[in-house]
Order: sequence, then structure tokens, then C-alpha cells
Amino acid sequence: MKKNLIILFLFSLNILTNAQPPQIIKLTPPDTLRGIPVMQALAHRTSASSYDTSEMKIKDISDLLWAANGINRPESGKRTAASSYNSQDIDLYLFLKAGVYIYNPKDHQIELVVSGDHTDLIATTQEFVKGSRQIILLVSDISRFKKGEESEKLRWAAIDAGIVAQNIMIFCASEGFLARPRVYMENEQIRQLLKLNEDQHLILNIPVSYNK
Ligand SMILES: Cc1cc2nc3c(=O)[nH]c(=O)nc-3n(C[C@H](O)[C@H](O)[C@H](O)COP(=O)(O)O)c2cc1C
Repeated sequence: MKKNLIILFLFSLNILTNAQPPQIIKLTPPDTLRGIPVMQALAHRTSASSYDTSEMKIKDISDLLWAANGINRPESGKRTAASSYNSQDIDLYLFLKAGVYIYNPKDHQIELVVSGDHTDLIATTQEFVKGSRQIILLVSDISRFKKGEESEKLRWAAIDAGIVAQNIMIFCASEGFLARPRVYMENEQIRQLLKLNEDQHLILNIPVSYNK
């Protein structure tokens, strides 16, 4: 009886462990040799209107996040995307089926924010978005703008997010991946889910996938 209980306990523990997504996922170093010439990527750039439902490999997610807003000059910590006053205000949240992660560019890893599938909050009424197994949410933390007028900061946030978004679109075009920049999402519910403060603003989301 005692032996059975121990086995049952270990079995439950195993299920719980499996149900909980990893706290940290280490990303692979950027492959700066991949892709097609930039003019060809621009020629292919388009917004997707349907998605492939397979999960992307960690190598592709790694390069996608690095291309979006990774550190390309380790000596200064500067990024692949320009930002107003080098404020680096754009954070990338990655919505996966297992949970929502935040990209940590310094350690080139993603860190769990909340477990569970919350992609419906991004898709809203646009059904085709639900096909994507990975959605990047661009959030600006305007408290990182240490200079300038308050009234200017949301404008800078939108511009900075636009630059990150175009990095994502061009990387995807270069790889033949599907992507679409979107403003529609359940703003308030996402803010609560991610426990954002008043300086953090949801700007854009980009569902991505392999080509069908
Ligand atoms: C700032 C911005 C917000 C957008 N928001 C949405 C959106 O919420 N939903 C959507 O389906 N498409 C959205 N789009 C995609 C545009 O509809 C798309 O870029 C436009 O139709 C042009 O198509 P193309 O990107 O293939 O050239 C958005 C694009 C931008 C630049």
C-alpha cells in the first residue's frame, strides 16, 4: 500500500512537472549568415492572412528575436533596432501555447511570465491568427525615455516599435516565414495578464509561423 502511494505521488509530480513550461529557455547564438539578399527580402515582404499551425524550432525563434531587437554590438549593448535616445524601450513578449515569455536580450534567453495558452487575447475576432503557434507582442516602457517632453513619448514608442516590427517582417520575408503586424488585441486583459504598469504600453503584435 505504502509502495503504491509513493508511486502515485511520483506519477503526479511528474505530470505537474510536465505541465509546467520551463522558467527559462536558452536561445541559440544568432546565425548572421542566414537569409537572402535584403532587396529580395523586400521584394517578398507581405502581411500573412493565414498561418501554419506547426511550432517553430528554437533556432528559428532565437534568430527571429535577435533580428527583432537583439544585441548586435556587445561592447555597447546596442540593438538591431534603433531607439529614441538609445532608450531601448521595446520589450518583446512571446505568446506560445505553453505560456507567455519575455525576451531577455542580454542573456539571449526567454523567461516565463505566465503559463498557459493566452493567444486568444491577441487574436480577438481575427480567427486566422489562431493558427499561429507563436505571437510576438511589442510593449514600450516609456519610463526608459529619460529625456524629452511627456507629450512626445507615446509617439517615440510607436516609432521604436515600428522599427522592431519591420526587422521582424524583413527577417520573415527573408526566411519565407509568415507574419502580419497587428494593432488589434484585448488591451486591458493582456495588461492584467502580464501585470504591466502604467508606463508600459501595448503597441503591436505580430503572429508568425512557417510557410504552409
Ligand atoms: C500599424 C499597423 C497596424 C496593423 N493592424 C492590423 C490589424 O490589427 N489586423 C490586421 O489584420 N492587419 C493589420 N495590419 C496589416 C495591414 O492591414 C497591412 O499591412 C496592409 O493591408 C498592407 O498589406 P501588406 O502588409 O501585405 O503590404 C496593420 C499594419 C500596420 C502597419
